[in-house]
Amino acid sequence: MERTFLAVKPDGVQRGLVGNIIGRFESKGFQLVGLKLVQVSRELAEKHYGEHKERPFFPGLVNFITSAPVVAMVWEGKGVIASARKIIGVTNPLNAENGTIRGDFGVDVGRNIIHGSDAPDTAEREIALWFTPAELCNWQPSISTWIY
Ligand code: TYD
Ligand code: MG
Repeated sequence: MERTFLAVKPDGVQRGLVGNIIGRFESKGFQLVGLKLVQVSRELAEKHYGEHKERPFFPGLVNFITSAPVVAMVWEGKGVIASARKIIGVTNPLNAENGTIRGDFGVDVGRNIIHGSDAPDTAEREIALWFTPAELCNWQPSISTWIY
């Protein structure tokens, strides 16, 4: 079954949006298989955002993501990687559709509330970077037949 990595960034945690955000993925029908509050190290932040290390916003991005705890999560379900990106909305919250997380809660690209893996290979890399296998739960909800 497909899995993706999501993280509520420091702004989402500080603003008390964690419950609302988790609720959106739960009610869509996805399953939470990993969850922890993390004070992110610079090393982890620089690895996570390694693809952007030459970009001008990289130092500010690393400072932001290490500034206060984030809620790191792994979610599982059919098509969860692409679907989570739709639920999250596009990178700049001002351009994100209403009804998406970034569209509903954000105005600044540097404070866009949540991260989500963008493809199967990045999902696999990010899950392995943030979670050990023992931190992920394999469980079967008994109502799964009815969700899809
Ligand atoms: P990116 O991977 O392009 O966006 P997404 O989170 O939608 O996959 O960029 C990573 C993060 O970097 C983004 O969530 C916010 C930050 N960022 C900026 O601060 N300024 C920018 O111009 C861009 C493109 C991103
Ligand atoms: Mg990205």
